[in-house]
Amino acid sequence: MRTLCTKSLKGKQAGFITALLVIAAVIYAGLAAQAAVSYAPTHLDHSKNPKGCIGCHMRGQSPGSKFSYERCFKCHGSVKKGVKGEARTDIESLFNKNSKHPVLSTTIYHSANEELPERNPNVPRHVTCVDCHSPHLSTPDKPWGGTGYSPGRIRVDNAAEEYELCYKCHSDSANLPAGEEDLIDSFNPSNPSYHPIEMAGRNKNVPSLINRLMLDQRITCDDCHGNSDPYGPKGPHGSDYAPLLVAQYRTDDGPEGAQVYALCYKCHSRQSILNDESFQRHKFHIVYQNTSCYTCHASHGSRENPSLISFNRTVVTNGSDGGPRYAPLQPGRPYCYLSCHGANHSYSGINGKKWPW
Ligand code: HEC
Ligand code: HEC
Ligand code: HEC
Ligand code: HEC
Ligand code: HEC
Ligand code: HEC
Ligand code: HEC
Repeated sequence: MRTLCTKSLKGKQAGFITALLVIAAVIYAGLAAQAAVSYAPTHLDHSKNPKGCIGCHMRGQSPGSKFSYERCFKCHGSVKKGVKGEARTDIESLFNKNSKHPVLSTTIYHSANEELPERNPNVPRHVTCVDCHSPHLSTPDKPWGGTGYSPGRIRVDNAAEEYELCYKCHSDSANLPAGEEDLIDSFNPSNPSYHPIEMAGRNKNVPSLINRLMLDQRITCDDCHGNSDPYGPKGPHGSDYAPLLVAQYRTDDGPEGAQVYALCYKCHSRQSILNDESFQRHKFHIVYQNTSCYTCHASHGSRENPSLISFNRTVVTNGSDGGPRYAPLQPGRPYCYLSCHGANHSYSGINGKKWPW
């Protein structure tokens, strides 16, 4: 093993390898106490990966060579490939799903010394396993890891929060596809409203929350983005529902149903929403007018309005009093200045008819 590892290494890498070999030696010799073994990084833990280093660094795949996800699929694959220490988690099959991170098609653009976010708009966009995982360090408690990008737009060597990992490609990347949000802007805690990713929420009156404790807690990207199969491997690899959602969310208008808006109803009680406990015209719009939540609400954050109000401009346009604009003058009974399928919302009511229409 030592010859294999040192063969293609020099300087810094050789130092690194020595350090790893020391860790590995401690574990493999069985000198470590039982407790230390269970806290060891999974892939360096002999009881989980008996093959050790060569489980990943086989001939022709020595450290420093181009990264290939096939290395991971040897154990995390859909078919057993005869490697001792095969993992229980099949990640490969997740990439057959309808919505996925484009790992299989873009890994070729990954380079070991890249710096993300990308600053050159001409470099092809990519994502691969080691952009989100540090295989030498990961444990069941902290499966993800790697470099990140902080909300203050500073590159960090070790992402402490999951969102910092995601921000390195989903904030101000120079090659971000047109129309995609800069998520550091969307989740900024100084916005009038935001889903609580970086900080607990701003609004303390959210009657629909199923778990009241959540008012003071934060949620993660994983709570909404990940495997749609709750029994399958966790993580934002692949899902039946676009864009990589853990449950269905219909963004165009159509009949309401528990399944159609399952994503929101995971945390917000369907009964509370349809009983108009907050907005007194929720049921009217959602059930009788077939209006999607997405027509009125942003999923991440709203830079203009409270209550995550951000109108879907492909459905909502300006009305006779301008807009589209939202004016929360009275809780539950806001004024809206807009037009939606010919329904003109103005100061004088909906198509001139006063509340309650
Ligand atoms: C689960 C798979 C896996 C195991 C097990 C593993 N490595 Fe690695 N190692 C990788 C990957 C993947 C890279 C390349 C990271 C990249 O391309 O960004 C890497 C890179 C390296 C590097 C280059 C420096 C670096 O961090 O990029 C060294 C040195 C190294 N590994 C040594 C070891 C040694 C020694 C062991 C055993 C104690 C070991 N590895 C076990 C997956 C593994
Ligand atoms: C030699 C077999 C082997 C290879 C190769 C391998 N893994 Fe694993 N991995 C395991 C085992 C065993 C587990 C324990 C959980 C399980 O059985 O799925 C695991 C768990 C994980 C976990 C869960 C967190 C943790 O550390 O417990 C992640 C993430 C992971 N592997 C990523 C990777 C990535 C990325 C690669 C490729 C660079 C890779 N693995 C290659 C065997 C392997
Ligand atoms: C190394 C770059 C990279 C990282 C890190 C990254 N992504 Fe992505 N992500 C991409 C690329 C590339 C796409 C394909 C669409 C695009 O270019 O934006 C994508 C697409 C997505 C999509 C939309 C899928 C679709 O169907 O359009 C979601 C949701 C997503 N990522 C969530 C996340 C989350 C959550 C994290 C953090 C856990 C994360 N991403 C980390 C590069 C990355
Ligand atoms: C409360 C649920 C929720 C949370 C939390 C959440 N998202 Fe999303 N995300 C959605 C929904 C729903 C959509 C699709 C509708 C939309 O674009 O608003 C989406 C869309 C996306 C897209 C595609 C956007 C585009 O412009 O095409 C990306 C990328 C993404 N999310 C990444 C993330 C990342 C990264 C995080 C954490 C920092 C995160 N999301 C947190 C629900 C969520
Ligand atoms: C965009 C980021 C991203 C990419 C790319 C990615 N992962 Fe993950 N993965 C995650 C996150 C985040 C989790 C943890 C999810 C959780 O615990 O809720 C995870 C979890 C895992 C797990 C543990 C699953 C479980 O249920 O215990 C394994 C194994 C894994 N990833 C392997 C891989 C492999 C192999 C690849 C490449 C083929 C890969 N991942 C690509 C973000 C990513
Ligand atoms: C993982 C749980 C979770 C999911 C899924 C979720 N939310 Fe939330 N949502 C929360 C929490 C927690 C708050 C409370 C934030 C606060 O206190 O401001 C919240 C608050 C809100 C608010 C009020 C924000 C404010 O500032 O007044 C709206 C509107 C909202 N969510 C809509 C949605 C919609 C639409 C969906 C589906 C796309 C959704 N949520 C999915 C957890 C979730
Ligand atoms: C016609 C526009 C519209 C539609 C469609 C709509 N909402 Fe709302 N929603 C509002 C307004 C306005 C408020 C703020 C009411 C207030 O507090 O004054 C609100 C408030 C909320 C809140 C925060 C208060 C609470 O009840 O906990 C949540 C959560 C929420 N909506 C979820 C949803 C979900 C889920 C859907 C789709 C099933 C949806 N909304 C559809 C306009 C809409």
